[in-house]
Amino acid sequence: MAKKQDENRHKAKPFLKWAGGKKQMLSQFEQYYPPEIRAGKIEKYIEPFIGGGAVFFEIMKKFNIRYAYISDINKDLILAYQVIQQQPYRLSEFLEQYQQQYNNMNEQDRKCLFLSVRKQYNSGRFEINYEKLSDNWIQRAAQLIFLNKTCFNGLFRLNSKGEFNVPFGRYKNPTISDQDNILSVSEVLQKTDIRISAYDSCFDMADEKSFVYLDPPYRPISKTASFTNYSGFGFSEQEQINLSYFFKKMDKEKRSGLMLSNSDPKNNNPDDNFFEEIYDGYNIYRLCANRMINCQADKRGLINELLITNYESGEC
Ligand SMILES: C[S@@+](CC[C@H](N)C(=O)[O-])C[C@H]1O[C@@H](n2cnc3c(N)ncnc32)[C@H](O)[C@@H]1O
Repeated sequence: MAKKQDENRHKAKPFLKWAGGKKQMLSQFEQYYPPEIRAGKIEKYIEPFIGGGAVFFEIMKKFNIRYAYISDINKDLILAYQVIQQQPYRLSEFLEQYQQQYNNMNEQDRKCLFLSVRKQYNSGRFEINYEKLSDNWIQRAAQLIFLNKTCFNGLFRLNSKGEFNVPFGRYKNPTISDQDNILSVSEVLQKTDIRISAYDSCFDMADEKSFVYLDPPYRPISKTASFTNYSGFGFSEQEQINLSYFFKKMDKEKRSGLMLSNSDPKNNNPDDNFFEEIYDGYNIYRLCANRMINCQADKRGLINELLITNYESGEC
């Protein structure tokens, strides 16, 4: 049984596509994790901007972490993690039904199904009590996963009224139901505390045997881009600065290993020292990301992302 659980833990991967997801960065991140994690000295993993959780699943797969804490300000995202933790089989039944329905439809009917689920999802937001797991949580998590797999680009975006407004995606064979992965994710979540909260609530959880990964919404790459509000939760320049104060407080008072990601403003303006200034005294690494910016044709597809740590990495 223990062996089976271990196998499951090793298979778990993100169950949602998420804006700002770090899947493409994982192989590069590896050498920047704190050296103590490889030495088995890290017991807790904390990720307070969890999103799709690409780094969380990777860390839980590769290292022997005893306890994890994940959180996000997005209530419906956290609701989905909690449903997978507690009701993976019932959720899978809902997803399997969606999958069957979808597979047996032509494109026009698929679009009608998508629009009807989107409508139910949007009206359902007034009926949910996010404090207490109930049957309508399971349905809501299934709706979120269905919409994520069938909408345009797998985006999660809310309009100003808080309605999910991403259009239909026209995929040929989307995988809506992946029971194996839902069960593997559920296994990993058994030793995970999952909360709806702003990032700073993780403060009390951290100690010197913790590794904390912070992946806030990006600082906009250009001055003309508005601050990231794809999910309905913007993160202004001032909030980036407040986060740097939090980073310093965690470093001083908790002595946890801290790693933070952001976009590199020097992609657009080599003289922009925003992160050097607010993270003065910490290690700032530049990693090559395969992300597109269209204002600099010569650098298209090759831009830097920042990783900031409060420890020396094993970088080669
Ligand atoms: C860049 S995404 C994280 C992506 C994630 N690392 C992944 O691989 O999918 C940032 C996340 O921060 C969340 N967020 C925004 N403001 C927040 C805040 N003040 N506190 C906690 N989470 C917040 C958003 O809902 C979003 O899920």
